[in-house]
Amino acid sequence: MRVGLDLEGFGGQMDLAFTGLLHTLRTGGPAWETVFGTPFWEYLAARPAMAASFDATMAAGTDYVIDAAAGYDWSGARHVVDVGGGTGALLAAVLETDPALRGTLVDLPDTVRRGREHLAARGLGDRCAFAGQSFFDPLPEGGDVYVLSSVLHDWADRDAARILGRCAEAAGAGGRVLILQQHGTEGGDRAEMDLRMLVLCGGRERGLDDYRALAAGAGLTVAAVRTTPLGQVAIDCAPVAG
Ligand SMILES: C[S@@+](CC[C@H](N)C(=O)[O-])C[C@H]1O[C@@H](n2cnc3c(N)ncnc32)[C@H](O)[C@@H]1O
Repeated sequence: MRVGLDLEGFGGQMDLAFTGLLHTLRTGGPAWETVFGTPFWEYLAARPAMAASFDATMAAGTDYVIDAAAGYDWSGARHVVDVGGGTGALLAAVLETDPALRGTLVDLPDTVRRGREHLAARGLGDRCAFAGQSFFDPLPEGGDVYVLSSVLHDWADRDAARILGRCAEAAGAGGRVLILQQHGTEGGDRAEMDLRMLVLCGGRERGLDDYRALAAGAGLTVAAVRTTPLGQVAIDCAPVAG
């Protein structure tokens, strides 16, 4: 938990954004940019040390990563593409479930650079490709599962739909898109995160019907929904037939 409690790192910065809560309540817009003067992702892009602290905070939930890797049946997959995969904590855990699996880590260039080091240190570098790019641009093709773990909740509907659309496009007729939601899709647990996403970056938590609608807009259908032992929801999306 240390990284999240570091007041000089992303943990402290994130909570300072709540001093602008009234702005969010009055306007529905993110407080972050009124408190810090720049939208969330631009702010991180301009501050490498804070971006590294953000990446470390995202990678800190090891239990959740192991839970997600173990709580899904990867046996049908040969190539997993983790989109917005941070520094590769989840991808590493997934690759470790099966020595025949290959992976691609997609994230912003600096984060992917840190991810490359992380995967190499775990002895997985030669089974992984790296794409330092925006997920709003066309994604690497050839994967059979495109994972979006805690990514869509950072974005309002229009942008979330664009990201999902890029995954569907790259997955093609034979691929799947797996949405992993750490905070479930209903109930009290997600309420705090719902507000947090709105305050930080204008995102939101979503229920299953919201995901079904987003998926349909990207030419996908929700084929299966599973809840992992720690309560993450795995929403397995397949292309709409025909
Ligand atoms: C909330 S984190 C989730 C990270 C990881 N998937 C996890 O489950 O911990 C969102 C990720 O999206 C990445 N991201 C934000 N904007 C992006 C963009 N335009 N293109 C690619 N990645 C982006 C961030 O760098 C970050 O790693």
